Amino acid sequence: MTVSRFVIVAALLLAAGTANAESGPEPKTAEEAAGKQVFHQCAACHSLDSSKNAFGPSLYNVVGRKAGSIPRFDYSNALKTSNITWTEDNLRHWIAGNDNFVPGTRMRHVAITDPAEQDYLIAFLKSLKQ
Ligand code: HEC
Repeated sequence: MTVSRFVIVAALLLAAGTANAESGPEPKTAEEAAGKQVFHQCAACHSLDSSKNAFGPSLYNVVGRKAGSIPRFDYSNALKTSNITWTEDNLRHWIAGNDNFVPGTRMRHVAITDPAEQDYLIAFLKSLKQ
């Protein structure tokens, strides 16, 4: 095998490895890709496996969904009775300071206050649909 061929094969293997390690949809735009990076702060509790609740509820189809509405997930009363719908605006408030927005929520405090990071993350959340 020539050196250049080896490099190409190694690169392909690396790419395949990365694809396997990461789940969730492939980002289609640079914004979604940046949002997937920001989502690393959420991934410990929110699975990118579309059907799975983890420590936090699945975020598939979250945009437009009523807060606290996934069956079989044990939400706080605060979120269940919040009467919030996850519009882009409400998601922005939530990620900027969830416990200010919904006092009594069980989700640990997050504070993504940079508007660009908020845009990226919301673009990524919008891509989580089936
Ligand atoms: C330490 C674990 C943890 C982390 C980190 C975390 N979450 Fe959560 N998340 C939860 C839990 C638990 C709930 C349910 C909260 C409740 O019932 O009050 C939740 C709820 C949510 C909801 C409401 C979903 C619904 O069905 O109403 C959204 C949206 C959300 N999280 C987004 C995020 C985003 C975006 C991030 C990253 C910036 C993040 N979360 C980070 C644990 C976490």
